Amino acid sequence: MTTTRAKITALGTYVPPRVLSNADLEKMVDTTSEWILERVGIRERHIADKGVAASDLAVAAVKNLLESHPFDLQEVDLIVVGTVTPDMMYPSTACLVQHKLGIQNTWGFDVSAGCSGFVYALNTGVKFVESGQYKKVLVIGSDVNSSMTDYTDRAVCIIFGDGAGAVLLEPCADGEGVIDHVAQVEGMGGQYLFMPGGGSLNPASHETVDQKMHYIHQDGKNVFKYAVKKMAEMTERVLERNKLTGKDVDCFIAHQANRRIITATADRLGMPLEKVIINIDRFGNTTAGTIPIAMRTAIDEGKLRKGDMLLIAAVGAGFTSGATLMRWEF
Ligand code: COA
Repeated sequence: MTTTRAKITALGTYVPPRVLSNADLEKMVDTTSEWILERVGIRERHIADKGVAASDLAVAAVKNLLESHPFDLQEVDLIVVGTVTPDMMYPSTACLVQHKLGIQNTWGFDVSAGCSGFVYALNTGVKFVESGQYKKVLVIGSDVNSSMTDYTDRAVCIIFGDGAGAVLLEPCADGEGVIDHVAQVEGMGGQYLFMPGGGSLNPASHETVDQKMHYIHQDGKNVFKYAVKKMAEMTERVLERNKLTGKDVDCFIAHQANRRIITATADRLGMPLEKVIINIDRFGNTTAGTIPIAMRTAIDEGKLRKGDMLLIAAVGAGFTSGATLMRWEF
């Protein structure tokens, strides 16, 4: 019996045109460009204009995908969107994307996994393709982090940017495409990175606004420590399970949260920096957008080519974590 596997056959990305530089932030909070560059690795990030939502970035990413890989969108049979900044509580961003793109006879849903959003959405899409019943699955990571960022909180507002990426998953033969993935949630991490307002626990009220409950709340130190430990653990686990080491990986794309988290993980895997994709300097942390946007950077820099062994990994709010191993197929 032949096994159906899933491969990524196309990529699209989008970041809004407006740039928020470190120099801009120096005028808004008590910080310096040097501090941000040294502690986090960011020079600038892109920020959506008011009224531009996660579904808009997602649609733009899909349109960008179509430019390099034209196909009939009506063939899409599933849309999975990783986001923690949906346009609204409901309907899901996947429904809004379906409507804006005019795709008939499809279905879809959102995946909420913080900065692991793209990895979780991808792994979900892969399983549908592997079932043999789905031939074209759109997997999107899209976040408008600026919509929940307190631009008076210097430990948070320097980190985040807005952006989206989309990939197309299609069936392929055994030995091609996505090889394996690992994932884990540890809900104790909820206390370190969360947005408390607007859900059923703290519905929106004057009080929740006054108490800044509709903004990102982050204990940066604890998030950092967990991310360094878990990023290494997940990447090692997926490699070991497949009898591989860091040496077998041609390209490593980690979620872009902090340059120091990425380099610490690469170090632990014994991976030279030439194989590691870092674009946090230009985009900041775009949550579910970082990995597909970094795939684009990898291709542009000639560091990700057809046949390469690609390892992606993320840690995010939840805590959530995951790593996926694949052959890059285009
Ligand atoms: N500019 C200048 N100083 C700042 C600052 C800023 N933008 N943000 C924080 N500081 C200050 C702190 O107030 C603190 O000052 P204090 O010692 O007087 O209290 C000092 O810098 C050190 O703070 P600390 O939290 O130890 O800094 P850090 O080196 O850990 O960096 C983060 C802070 C947020 C950049 C870092 O913890 C981080 O990247 N965490 C992970 C966040 C993340 O990845 N989130 C997304 C998860 S997917």
